[in-house]
Amino acid sequence: MVNKERNAPIGLFDSGVGGLSVYLHLAQQLPDEHYIYYADTLHVPYGNRDSKEIETLTLIAVEWLYQQGCKLIVIACNSASAYALETARRCYPQLPIVGLVPALKPAILASKSGHVAVLATKATLNGTLLNQVITDIALPNQTIVTKYFDPQLVPWVEAGMPENSETAQRLHQQVQGFAQEGIDQLVLGCTHYPFFKPFLLQEIESQQLSMDVVDSGKAIAERVKQLLVKNQLLALPISSAHSGIDSSRTTVNNTNIRPPLIFYASKYDDKLGMLIQRLLGTQIRLQRYC
Ligand code: DGL
Repeated sequence: MVNKERNAPIGLFDSGVGGLSVYLHLAQQLPDEHYIYYADTLHVPYGNRDSKEIETLTLIAVEWLYQQGCKLIVIACNSASAYALETARRCYPQLPIVGLVPALKPAILASKSGHVAVLATKATLNGTLLNQVITDIALPNQTIVTKYFDPQLVPWVEAGMPENSETAQRLHQQVQGFAQEGIDQLVLGCTHYPFFKPFLLQEIESQQLSMDVVDSGKAIAERVKQLLVKNQLLALPISSAHSGIDSSRTTVNNTNIRPPLIFYASKYDDKLGMLIQRLLGTQIRLQRYC
């Protein structure tokens, strides 16, 4: 039975910490909601795995979130969405499930040079969700789409993005390469990548390049909000659940009132704990759940 309680949690799933970039947008737009996050850190990265394996691992995670009583699930992973979104929706027809696809469409429509790049995992780049956007939007708009894949990017983020690594060096050079090719939109097609957006923006600024960096986090949070409203599942404001609390204090910045993020990882260690806290900042309270 799908949970139709307004105050039931929203479930988020990613192979690792990447989906936290989506969670940050959700927490901003929907601060009264409760969230449960499942990170399959035992099997990260997914991007090099074959489609069947990605589908199996994703369905395990979705079932786990369903068992926690989630009212809506976000597959906050482009690679997992590419191979398991349709099946997950078929398995849970009553449950709203939101998946991710790289924000290629807005990038194509915003491009002045007619050349955009999408940075994603091998799995996402080969998946039908992305290639459908290329067929439906890029081709009719005569836009060239360069697909870029570096298998070290996800492990680099999971390792806390050390600046002195070869991956950072490659990324630095790659930004120059994109500019030389006339690319004016960089699409971050993996939920891990927004965590190095400040690094990219710094490169773009210091090299005085004209390039936008786009991701789908904000649009996904808007989509979740729409679905909650449509299904009458928006959480009641926390102030009304705790009598005597002034609703003007119930903001995203009020860490005392906002529910903590419940975080589950299939493999957890202290290093991961420190990384999560660094990525989320001090505003978010975390409750670990193993
Ligand atoms: N955050 C996942 C995505 O959006 C990372 C995939 C991986 O684990 O390789 O695709």
